[in-house]
Formats: sequence, C-alpha cells, structure tokens
Amino acid sequence: MKVGILGGGQLGRMLLQAAANYTVETYVLENDENCPAAHLCHHFFKGDIKDFNAVYNFGKNLDALTIEIESVNIDALEKLEQEGVKIYPTPAAIKTIKNKILQKEFYQKNQIPTAEFIITQQQNDLKNYTNFLPAVHKLAEGGYDGKGVQILYSDADIDKGFNAPSVLEKSVSIEKEIAIIIAVNDKKETAIYPPSEMIFDPVLNLLDYQLSPARIEVNELWKIESIALSVVKNLKSAGLFSVELFIDKEGNILVNETAPRVHNSGHHTIEANYCSQYDMLWRIILNYPLGNTKAILPSAIVNIVGAENFSGNAKYIGLENVLEMDNVFVHLYGKQITKAGRKMGHVTIISNDYADLTYKANKIKHALKVIA
Ligand SMILES: Nc1ncnc2c1ncn2[C@@H]1O[C@H](COP(=O)(O)OP(=O)(O)OP(=O)(O)O)[C@@H](O)[C@H]1O
Ligand SMILES: [Mg+2]
Repeated sequence: MKVGILGGGQLGRMLLQAAANYTVETYVLENDENCPAAHLCHHFFKGDIKDFNAVYNFGKNLDALTIEIESVNIDALEKLEQEGVKIYPTPAAIKTIKNKILQKEFYQKNQIPTAEFIITQQQNDLKNYTNFLPAVHKLAEGGYDGKGVQILYSDADIDKGFNAPSVLEKSVSIEKEIAIIIAVNDKKETAIYPPSEMIFDPVLNLLDYQLSPARIEVNELWKIESIALSVVKNLKSAGLFSVELFIDKEGNILVNETAPRVHNSGHHTIEANYCSQYDMLWRIILNYPLGNTKAILPSAIVNIVGAENFSGNAKYIGLENVLEMDNVFVHLYGKQITKAGRKMGHVTIISNDYADLTYKANKIKHALKVIA
C-alpha cells in the first residue's frame, strides 16, 4: 500500500519509525525539506498542506492518507475521498475538529460535557461578555502548542483577546488534566489506552511532564472512557483520536479538546505499552487487527524544549547524564534550529514506582538543556 502523511513534524517522524515494521510505501508532504519526517519516508514531497493543489496532487495516486496536524486543506481531502482514497480520519471529522467553534458546537449537539462557551467574531465582542470572565479565549483556527489560547481574568484583559473568530470558554478550576487515546478501525471496533495525567508549566503553557496511567479513581476512569468513546463514536470516523479532558475541583469531567491523530500525549506508548499509538494507526490504515493498549509499566514523558533566550543551531547539554539513567528513553526530533519553548524531543521514563517516575522526570528537566 502507498500511504501519505500530511505534515512532516515529530509525530510524522515517529509514525514513520513504526511504519518500518510493515510493508507500506510511505509519502510525506511538507513545506520544509529538512523537517523531522523528511528522511524517514520513502518519498518526500515539498508543498503546502494547506494548499488545494498540493494536497490533491500528492494524494491522488495514493491508497490512503493520514494527518499529523489538523491544519490541512479539507476541500482537497474531500475530493480525494470521493475518488476512493481512504482518509484516516475522514475529512468530515477533521473539519469539525480543526475549527474550535465547530468542535465546541459538536460537543454541545452530542451532549458531551464541556465548559460553557460563547462565540466571538472580533475582539470588540468581548466587551459584551465581561461578566462571563474569568474565561479562556481560544482562536477558532491556527492556534498550536498553547499559542492561540489566552486567559482573560477581567475587563482589563480584553485587549489581549483575539480579533478573529474565537471561542470564549468559562474558566475551569482544574483538579487534573487528562488525555485518553482511542483507536477505531473500519469495522468500528475500538481500543482504549489507559489515560494519562498532565502537569503543566504555567509560564510556557506547554506540557511539563506527563504520568501514565493517570492516578484516578476507577469511577473517574469509567466516566472518562465513556465520554471519550462518545466523542469518537459521534465523529463517525476510523482513525486514532486523543481526547483531552479536565477533572474539575467538584469532580465533574469536561472535554477540553480532541485531536484526530497521533498525539503528544501518547509518546510514552512506544516503550510503555504493548502496542504504541503509532503502530496502532498503521494497524488501522493497513487493515490489521487492533493491538493491545495495556501499559507494560507506568511511565512519564518529559518534553525537551528549547531553553529561553537561545535560538539558532541546537546543542544538547546534559544528554549523557540522562542516557546513563536506567529505563529512560531519549527521542530527539532532528530539528536543526532551536528557539525558546520549541519542542525538540522528549524523554520517556518507565518504572513500577510513581515516585521514581516523578523523581527522574524532575532530574531530567534540570539535567537536559537545549541551547544554541
Ligand atoms: N476552559 C479552561 N479553563 C481553564 N484552563 C483551560 C481552559 N481551556 C484551556 N485551558 C488550559 O490551557 C491549555 C491549552 O488549551 P487547549 O488545549 O485548548 O489549547 P491548544 O492550543 O490546543 O494546546 P495544545 O496544542 O498544547 O493542546 C489547557 O491544556 C489548559 O491547561
Ligand atoms: Mg490542548
């Protein structure tokens, strides 16, 4: 089979690492020929994944397509789908998710619990909703890695709001942030991974580290699984999905957002679960049985991000100190240029003991630096 990936970042790279175990001919479309996935595919095509012709011409001779980012040209995917190219997930599902307004409306329509929200078209609209604050303003399209998300505490913050179509979402008192990955194949069979819990860096608004399986009560686990299943069932698409949720201080469970693709919250599945999320997506695309999602051992993920005040050719400080630790797995994404907060790699730690995971995660965070 000939399978194309739209986008050539680290998710594409890890997907290609897993593809090497199967008989599949891989294609990547991306603007930058030095992107993380460029050297691991069989055929690299330089082009804009947002451009109709680029996506259509890339996909028309392929058997199947998948994405590693949502900001792709949907019209081209719809045409390719009509012409018989299998697309994971369906263009309709990507369309719903890539726009945060449509995504929130989808939750509402399907009675999926999510924070209360108001739709705004321009910054000026925010003046009418000052009594809805504190709230989180989210750009409908084009945000990534926490950019495109702005907390508005009071009237004084209105000038920080987005002057483009956005969602204004009630601020949730978060007890825990959870992500859960669900695989769906063409037969509508599903496989659910154990959820992960996130710990965030309030400064960079980027994931700080993650623990998996999440330390939650069994009744919370059941609720999370059933809510996330209802999200993917209502999207009516095969593929691999990651649902991000909040548990609030009162124990309510609310969906934050969904990604219709392999996800940063699932990096640990490479070493810590019997079937990784990347292997799982190939099983779906190549029409093989779904894999075993169970954790072999608990795990943590530490993101390796570019240090503040450095930009230019990346240099890794402290790598040896990390590599000499037991049960620690380093993944560098092959990005030449670092800048503050840029995701450059991640480290997975596996251990029977959560205290050991947290200890090592903190140690790695301090030992490893990306400078220029
Ligand atoms: N309604 C809310 N109340 C409180 N905090 C929120 C709310 N919405 C989002 N956040 C915080 O902001 C973070 C980023 O929000 P969100 O996941 O919607 O944005 P994103 O740009 O898609 O981020 P990413 O790409 O990192 O997942 C969340 O993980 C959460 O910590
Ligand atoms: Mg998010």
